Amino acid sequence: MGFFSALIKKKDKPLNLNIKADIKCPPITILYGTKTGNAQLVAQQAHKYYHQCGIESECYNMEKYDVGRLPAEHKLLVVVSTDGEGELPPNARKFFALLQHEEMPMLPNLQYAVCALGDSSYDNFCGAGKTIEKQLQKLGAQAIMSRVDCDLDFKKPALQWIQNSYDTITGVKKEAPIAEPEITEPDFISTTLTKRQQLTKGETPQAVYHIELDNTTNKVDYAAGDCIEIIPSNPIKLVDQIIDTLNLNQSQQLISNSHTLEYALLHQFEITKLTRPVIRRYMKININESLKRLYNDKEALRDYLVSSDVLDLIKDYPCQMDADEFISILQPLHSRYYSIASGAKAKADQIDLTVKTIRFQQKEREYEGAGSTYVNESLEEGAEIHFRLVANPSFHLPDDPATPLIMIGVGTGIAPYRAFLQDLKAQGIKNKAWLIWGDKHQTTDFLYEDELIDYYKNNTLAFINTAFSRDQEQKEYVQQRLIDYQDRLLEWLDDGAMIYLCGHNKMGDQVKQTLVHIYMNAKGMSEQEARAYLREQRNNNIIREDLY
Ligand SMILES: Cc1cc2nc3c(=O)[nH]c(=O)nc-3n(C[C@H](O)[C@H](O)[C@H](O)COP(=O)(O)OP(=O)(O)OC[C@H]3O[C@@H](n4cnc5c(N)ncnc54)[C@H](O)[C@@H]3O)c2cc1C
Ligand SMILES: Cc1cc2nc3c(=O)[nH]c(=O)nc-3n(C[C@H](O)[C@H](O)[C@H](O)COP(=O)(O)O)c2cc1C
Repeated sequence: MGFFSALIKKKDKPLNLNIKADIKCPPITILYGTKTGNAQLVAQQAHKYYHQCGIESECYNMEKYDVGRLPAEHKLLVVVSTDGEGELPPNARKFFALLQHEEMPMLPNLQYAVCALGDSSYDNFCGAGKTIEKQLQKLGAQAIMSRVDCDLDFKKPALQWIQNSYDTITGVKKEAPIAEPEITEPDFISTTLTKRQQLTKGETPQAVYHIELDNTTNKVDYAAGDCIEIIPSNPIKLVDQIIDTLNLNQSQQLISNSHTLEYALLHQFEITKLTRPVIRRYMKININESLKRLYNDKEALRDYLVSSDVLDLIKDYPCQMDADEFISILQPLHSRYYSIASGAKAKADQIDLTVKTIRFQQKEREYEGAGSTYVNESLEEGAEIHFRLVANPSFHLPDDPATPLIMIGVGTGIAPYRAFLQDLKAQGIKNKAWLIWGDKHQTTDFLYEDELIDYYKNNTLAFINTAFSRDQEQKEYVQQRLIDYQDRLLEWLDDGAMIYLCGHNKMGDQVKQTLVHIYMNAKGMSEQEARAYLREQRNNNIIREDLY
């Protein structure tokens, strides 16, 4: 057990409430893997519930858990969300790499249950939960009960999972529960949108805006790299079109809900996005052979979901429905995330955002995003906005200010880097940051151009390299700059630099692919070795990602 004894190190203090059990049951270990905190919330509620029921349990962030203890564990509860495209969240990667390690012992005495959190609009729904369960099974661990896959409205199934795990583990089905598990999320905070300024130049349907929110009245303590979540309202034009298509009355009072149909569509349900569960529920009301064929054709369904909204569904597959029936097929309106673009050390009294308007033409009509048009267009300066801080510890600045940073991004991926630069400047840290950033055109899309040039002039930025993809015949992207400056990249990595990636997923994939090629060429590695090296860099937080 050389490998694992090496792992037994100074342990981070678990959240241990040390309760003497009155029901005979071995202690339970609860692990969570999370990006935005939901899995942590579920795991901590499970821990609290077991405590209230008098059963000893320990709750750990997966990153802080000593995997060397696993062979001696008896009962393991795993709560894990999915990130990226079916990937493990950052704090679960190292844990998983150790589970896969060739020296990982078998776990025949381990019984486990997995609660997977995800979003059914993604192809790989709850992929991380499935991946971890598969590996536990490979190691001979036994499932206590079936894995539960929770969609964005995770609270109800997660609470049921906690309750069922208790019933199954203890073998005691409580007639009158000592306590009910509950999940309470932090409240949304009200503030004022104090400033909005267009960053892109000229008229464009996809304008990017700089937004400022007041952070003095209900001050939140944030760190550069964190995000906020906001609850949007839906575009009124889309609400009207849906009500017209269904031939319903906007002011009709719903039976299932204390609001009117118009209010519910504006503020309570998703209509700009379409998901499998919505189609599944619609099929129960609308018995339609071609809809059934679509649902059963995986490829066609995937194409339809990415290119359609709720209005398309009711137009393409019409059906007579009353307002309550219609509402019953929809998913609750979920929050949208925006990276904070201001540094807390420099500007603790405000929260800046960089938001791109989602608006595009398709199938002879205009489509708009709910969150981006709400922030960029519906709210006036001075309007009230509700938000909640989402800590993003895996994307913070390194603890050691001497660590060099290679910040790679496109478009609104600049937002957290602006926050980093403000904080670096406030701390007088010079020449430790290198920005590689791109968009379409220099003249219209160079977000925060003057500020970035100033950061370069005052040496907060050691280097700035841009890639404007459409300014020359042959498109060029940020990954080309990695190749152009490959020697500097390798030197910085040798000096202990961290690579940050922010912006859309596709850019992230291409940058990672380019890094693999660079490692192959420069370090003489095979593709397999270069991929393993990249994986190690990601597991060890040398590569940090905030991709969406
Ligand atoms: C951690 C995190 C940080 C983020 N930070 C930022 C940020 O700093 N700035 C920012 O502008 N956004 C950011 N986003 C994205 C943001 O949360 C929203 O997804 C985005 O604003 C679109 O939401 P919407 O409600 O306007 O569109 P939706 O109503 O969600 O979507 C409407 C339609 O547009 C399509 N669509 C959605 N997004 C895009 C897109 N990017 N390109 C093309 N079509 C799209 C959808 O598929 C759908 O068909 C972040 C996301 C995450 C997860
Ligand atoms: C950038 C991003 C990527 C995601 N990718 C997936 C995915 O591939 N599959 C999935 O089921 N859910 C995906 N989700 C949804 C999350 O798993 C879901 O929101 C979950 O509740 C988050 O839990 P957490 O706060 O513990 O991270 C993604 C969410 C974000 C923000």
